[in-house]
Amino acid sequence: MITARAHTNIAFLKYWGKKDSNLILPYNDSISLTLNKFYTDTSVEFTSSMKEDEILVDNQPLTGSGLKRAKRVLELIRQKSGIKASAVVHSTNHVPTTAGLASSASAFAALAAAGAKAANLHLTDKELSILARHGSGSASRSIFGGFVQWHAGHDDQSSYAQSIQSPVNWDINLITALVDTAQKKVSSTNGMQAVVETSPFFPAWVKSAQADIEPMKSAILNKNLAKLGAIAENNAMRMHATTFGAVPNFTYFQPQTLAIIEAVRNIRKQGVECYSTVDAGPNVKIICASSDNDLIMEKLEPIMGHNQLLVCKPGPGVTYR
Ligand code: PMV
Repeated sequence: MITARAHTNIAFLKYWGKKDSNLILPYNDSISLTLNKFYTDTSVEFTSSMKEDEILVDNQPLTGSGLKRAKRVLELIRQKSGIKASAVVHSTNHVPTTAGLASSASAFAALAAAGAKAANLHLTDKELSILARHGSGSASRSIFGGFVQWHAGHDDQSSYAQSIQSPVNWDINLITALVDTAQKKVSSTNGMQAVVETSPFFPAWVKSAQADIEPMKSAILNKNLAKLGAIAENNAMRMHATTFGAVPNFTYFQPQTLAIIEAVRNIRKQGVECYSTVDAGPNVKIICASSDNDLIMEKLEPIMGHNQLLVCKPGPGVTYR
């Protein structure tokens, strides 16, 4: 039995739209930061004593699309290794249960890593990234720590993530503002499909997101927080603009989401480097230097309770226990 740990990641340049939904190929490259706080531990064992794969997440049997995706990853591992046996999978999410943060990135990265090792496959990080991508797109990036780029590619083998910088050798962190911790109404898969099929803004989104890649990479390598933050904030807004243009239209924003985005703009006007980014949900992540954490949190407190704010730092790639 092998246990792997993978941390979640937050995209500063988002993946939003599948060019191929079977292979999970995105329209554009994306760039993320792997975090230190939220992670998944997954153990996998292949055993002929089981008739079917048994997959437990936080002690509950996995169901629905999560189960389908997990089986797909296990099936790929069986194909590659020639193993016929079923797998026993136990997965524990170390994401505060109230965090309302997506765990699919850490979950599928940990499953791919533990499963491949349990099957005695010696995969490179690139191969692991491709495997994890079949569970969830963002999982391809959680194989690596620090700053990571997912190359969109054009087929299975050319769509994989790669490290940009790990460990991160400058002061950047993320304050997560928890607006709503309930399960979101529109899953990222459904949201992406809707904007690809119906939003006239989608082609403009893809074009601008791809154009953001090189400037974002140079901001990372030059440790330029102001440039990085400005590009990330605009990229997130453009992603959400696609949802406003969809038919029927939808949004992940809630009133408090907008209140925090506005507060971040105001704090910035007062000379503090801070920028917001929002994924397919209402929570806001604030990109800033750790030296400004206290000041930013103090300014956000009229809108949010202190316990709704969580500070994260850059985290590592996959490890084995
Ligand atoms: O990997 P998925 O299917 O959970 O999609 C993630 C989509 C976003 O979080 C909105 C953006 C991203 O690049 O992580």
